[in-house]
Amino acid sequence: MTIETLDPTPAMLDALDRLLGAAYGHPVWRAQLDRFVSLYGSGWRVVLEYGEPVACGMAVSYGRFGWIGLVATRPDRERQGLGRRITAELLGWLRAGGVETIALDASDKGQGLYAQLGFRVVGHVRALAAPTLLPSTTLRPAADGDLATIDALDAETFGVPRADLHRYLRGEGARYVITDGGFACVQPEGTIGPAMARSATAAAALLTVSGATRLLLPPGSSYGELADSLGFIETRRLARMVLGPTLPGRRDLELGVANYATG
Ligand SMILES: CC(C)(COP(=O)(O)OP(=O)(O)OC[C@H]1O[C@@H](n2cnc3c(N)ncnc32)[C@H](O)[C@@H]1OP(=O)(O)O)[C@@H](O)C(=O)NCCC(=O)NCCS
Repeated sequence: MTIETLDPTPAMLDALDRLLGAAYGHPVWRAQLDRFVSLYGSGWRVVLEYGEPVACGMAVSYGRFGWIGLVATRPDRERQGLGRRITAELLGWLRAGGVETIALDASDKGQGLYAQLGFRVVGHVRALAAPTLLPSTTLRPAADGDLATIDALDAETFGVPRADLHRYLRGEGARYVITDGGFACVQPEGTIGPAMARSATAAAALLTVSGATRLLLPPGSSYGELADSLGFIETRRLARMVLGPTLPGRRDLELGVANYATG
């Protein structure tokens, strides 16, 4: 069995959807897989057996740093070294492109695998469910003229610009809202993120925006206690793990990450 780059035919994407669903125990939204393949296709690696993927993973190079996500092994092929092989291959690809710092958000099963490869835990990403009875704030929808401001704040906070991601999310129907000193993307299923705020006032407005149901609060964020005080309930936490120097950016201003797979 060899590790290969992804040939994103519709049949292969169907097979990857099945693999991810079986490994993670819940269906991965096909739209999300399409997003990751469109935006980060060259960073995908798969292990094929008779043409069918039995393990996969994805790396995103942001230039100054990289991210690894969606590492998955079909349950009947676990504990045979496939997860480690895929992850080592993704690390090699990122490093060949000059990336030194690599981050990921690890499930409990993945944490041991990544620790063996040298990753250290630097904190936790907390999945928080928004309280249903929260009074909602109406914020100004972002207009085309706000995109440069959003890109600049996102780049300052995340460490690099992600204009492609914002364009793609808007194309998927995500709403972007603006407040003084912050912005939030409200994804179609209600996740708030990417979201950034320069002050607690801005963060409170963004956290109570109408239609928001869920937040992935990153480690190092200044706004954890604020979310707790507003009644957000923690449903899960994943270990944020880093290999190499510290991530750049103003992580203290970060309110919500886009997803576990890409930071
Ligand atoms: C995590 C996962 C990718 C590991 O894949 P794998 O092919 O079984 O991994 P490997 O055989 O290379 O195992 C490497 C290490 O992972 C850890 N690991 C693997 N399966 C594990 C399990 N069931 N429980 C605890 N640790 C586990 C161990 O540290 C293991 O090393 P060891 O076998 O020397 O003890 C796989 O279990 C999976 O797809 N899980 C569901 C999806 C997921 O959580 N992905 C990770 C997202 S960050």
